[in-house]
Amino acid sequence: MTGIDRPIVLVGLMGSGKSTIGRRLANSLKLRFVDADEEIEKAADRTISEIFDEYGEKQFRDGERRVIARLIGKDPIVLATGGGAFVNDDTRALIKRDALSIWLDADLETLVERVSRKDTRPLLRNKSPRDVLTKLAAERNPLYAEADLRVTSANGPHMATVERILEALA
Ligand code: S3P
Repeated sequence: MTGIDRPIVLVGLMGSGKSTIGRRLANSLKLRFVDADEEIEKAADRTISEIFDEYGEKQFRDGERRVIARLIGKDPIVLATGGGAFVNDDTRALIKRDALSIWLDADLETLVERVSRKDTRPLLRNKSPRDVLTKLAAERNPLYAEADLRVTSANGPHMATVERILEALA
């Protein structure tokens, strides 16, 4: 395994497994794991849904960029980002400059199945996850494709995806 000298940033749609895979990847690489959404919630003392409701998505994106800038400016870590982070031009430029980015690419069925386990995402509230994810995939996949690496996050054990990332990093 080559030495990791930059933060590793996981990007991809909601349900692509960024947090779970990120935690396991960090464990394998003996790096600290950080979840950007959790850091945003701590900094704002509000849930992501509350931030969307009280301040709107634009403010959330600004806060998200500030939190990510702070997190990737220091030691190598594994950072899971929210699905919209790499879509924001400023945040994407920052990640591309300071980190190694990995797109976790999952098929629609897998995404829909995974997001259905947690119903706290503001962009999915009162909507069909399948419709939202179909639209977001069309809009966002060309941007996720700008990541340094693309790894398939298939249905099944997350550890298999972690192994694929480790192979790609070796
Ligand atoms: C979002 C994804 C969420 C969270 C917010 C917005 C998005 O994170 O940041 O609800 O725009 O795709 P996850 O990708 O971890 O669900």
